[in-house]
Amino acid sequence: MELSLAFNASDTIEGLLDKAKTALSASSQLCFHEPALEARLLLEHAMGKSHTWLITHGDECVEVNQLALFTQYIEQRLSGKPVSFILGTQDFWSLRLNVSPCTLIPRQDTEVLVETALSLAIPEKAKVLDLGTGTGAVALALASEKPEWHLTGLDKILEAVELAKTNAQLNKLKVCFKQSDWFSALNSDTKFDLIVSNPPYVEENNECLTQGDVRYEPLSALISGADGLNDIRYIIEQAPLYMNSLAWIAFEHGYEQAQSIRTLLNEKGFIHAKTYQDYNNLDRVTVAQYLS
Ligand SMILES: C[S@@+](CC[C@H](N)C(=O)[O-])C[C@H]1O[C@@H](n2cnc3c(N)ncnc32)[C@H](O)[C@@H]1O
Repeated sequence: MELSLAFNASDTIEGLLDKAKTALSASSQLCFHEPALEARLLLEHAMGKSHTWLITHGDECVEVNQLALFTQYIEQRLSGKPVSFILGTQDFWSLRLNVSPCTLIPRQDTEVLVETALSLAIPEKAKVLDLGTGTGAVALALASEKPEWHLTGLDKILEAVELAKTNAQLNKLKVCFKQSDWFSALNSDTKFDLIVSNPPYVEENNECLTQGDVRYEPLSALISGADGLNDIRYIIEQAPLYMNSLAWIAFEHGYEQAQSIRTLLNEKGFIHAKTYQDYNNLDRVTVAQYLS
């Protein structure tokens, strides 16, 4: 049984945060979540106030309409809706991005893909491709760090492409976003110095698909065949056609997929395959270089 929220107009900001945290902690719908942080983000959103403002006004009450909004947000969260979908945004790298149920909510682990891509030795005015761009998170983070790179972001979902274009405008960044089924929208004479991709990589029967925030995200962004590697296999097979000599490819992947991906890369003639770990020390990103 879910707890009743029992918020009152006489509750202070601190009191409301406490009650919300207790209710979120007790919810059976949520997993891997941070109740205190979520309560704070949702109250800031309901009040249109900053973190600092909330801290310095903790003993004040909130307006009736703000309390109604906060109650609605907490109820949505208790029913399982991801915080980012309630807020409509997710911070990634140094950017604030709009999100939508048409694609994945950008994850902090994906910043490892950005860091790794930035560490590779590629030309100053490199041509870079982000495959399965979603919100545009990876391409836009790279554009924010390397304005001289020529970035292209592709996704097969038109709504995601439109979302990525909006995120580029909101963050005043230049990336060419297009709808494409992997490489289908590219000319065969287009070559890149770096291809980055966080493609779908979850096994189709993985039980994580029935838990937590992932239930609200589209399967088109998550699953990739029985072993989760169908899309990565396809990309590795096709990528050399679109790579300059000594260009790099960098994938985000599941923490148990690194060895299989290095094998696939080696079999296709890639060299220098290497895997990097995420902030939990799990294998998360594999890179390799193509020598044509
Ligand atoms: C795991 S999400 C990654 C989104 C974003 N790059 C990120 O890191 O947050 C995978 C993305 O690949 C896209 N995708 C799936 N199949 C695709 C295909 N055949 N061609 C292009 N994009 C595809 C999905 O629509 C989704 O946006």
